Amino acid sequence: MTLSELPAAQLAAFLQDQRTAYDELVAQGLKLDLTRGKPSAAQLDLSEELLQLPNGHTAADGTDARNYGGLAGLLDLRAIFAELLGMETGQLVAGGNSSLTMMQQVLVHCLLHGAVDSERPWSADGPVKFICPVPGYDRHFTLLESYGIEMLTVPMNSDGPDASAIKALVADDPRIKGMWIVPTYANPSGAVCSQEVAAELTSMPTAAADFKIFWDNAYAFHHLTADETKSADVLSLASASGHPHRPILFASTSKITFAGAGVGFVGGSVENIAWYLKHLGNESIGPDKVNHLRHAQFFGDGDGVLAHMAKHREIIAPKFAQVQRVLTERLAGHGVASWNDPAGGYFVNLDVVDGTASRVVELAKGAGIALTPAGSSFPYHDDPNDRNIRLAPTMPPVADVTTAMQGVATCVLLAAAEKLSAAR
Ligand SMILES: Cc1ncc(COP(=O)(O)O)c(C=O)c1O
Repeated sequence: MTLSELPAAQLAAFLQDQRTAYDELVAQGLKLDLTRGKPSAAQLDLSEELLQLPNGHTAADGTDARNYGGLAGLLDLRAIFAELLGMETGQLVAGGNSSLTMMQQVLVHCLLHGAVDSERPWSADGPVKFICPVPGYDRHFTLLESYGIEMLTVPMNSDGPDASAIKALVADDPRIKGMWIVPTYANPSGAVCSQEVAAELTSMPTAAADFKIFWDNAYAFHHLTADETKSADVLSLASASGHPHRPILFASTSKITFAGAGVGFVGGSVENIAWYLKHLGNESIGPDKVNHLRHAQFFGDGDGVLAHMAKHREIIAPKFAQVQRVLTERLAGHGVASWNDPAGGYFVNLDVVDGTASRVVELAKGAGIALTPAGSSFPYHDDPNDRNIRLAPTMPPVADVTTAMQGVATCVLLAAAEKLSAAR
């Protein structure tokens, strides 16, 4: 019987049991954190050798990595990641330590200068709007918010964003200039955008001729199973449908090597890359090529990256397995929650009884378990159903993940019982 089907007396008893369980949880005095998608120390240790690299300072093409220049990044490293991301080396720029910064650069250049195929700066014609699949990555939304860009939400399905909803929006409104998508193992839903959905997004008619897909492939190689999903080939699809400049790709090694000292990438059509470099040239004389060289030597080639990712998987897959085990054991059958079992990425998406996500996070905090604030995966931090909670299990040791999830399950059950009791 689900919680909502329980007769009043049984629901009251259930609520009392959960209150007792919660009091016991608080008494444990936990101090656990499932908030941010950070690699654990054990994952960072996998790349410790980087601290001894590079050997020498000369790249394969003779470039002295120590000096200014080479705005597009070191060829050695671009070649490795271009192959992995399915493009020519000339279509990929290796930059600084953050792809999010590169997203901000591209956005601001579009706003102030216009994209490669714009007649005017995006900002010249009044307020700009963006499509935001939800739930999504909080920093994508706060970035748009900081520039006053209006966010239009569409559902994120298990095969990618709802293409029909997007098509209906972009067909008639020239102020809708772009959209976000995390195509592979999306943050936080774990969804993987299918080739079919990608084809719809690249081919759809848009009122804005310079519409852009910000294709943030932050988790392209971050598999949690042996089934190593390949990302949709958005660049080929876009070229084939006559919109070669529509997608701009982003990726980074933040969750491959060091989250604070990795390498970010921007990819796209040759024209998009020339446009990006033209603007980049005004703000930089060249990136940290020493870091590029150290990464190129560390990986050797694309297979080196994939072998390295398999080591990450060994460390974090057991944590994700604990999340599934505890959620299933504690919550399945009660009708109070649903969650995904991602095949990759950094998050588990937990949907609780409508109107209780904030309460669950509050209860968890009271028990010393830090969860990402409810609503974080929505623009303006506003989850209209107050239902969504993002769980990030990579950082704590596996035993702590298990303990934290037991606590979260108690909070989910208590919040659901409170809500249902109050509604009776
Ligand atoms: C979807 C997504 N994009 C980008 C980033 C940040 O990337 P970077 O470290 O390269 O700035 C994150 C980090 O959590 C992410 O989840």
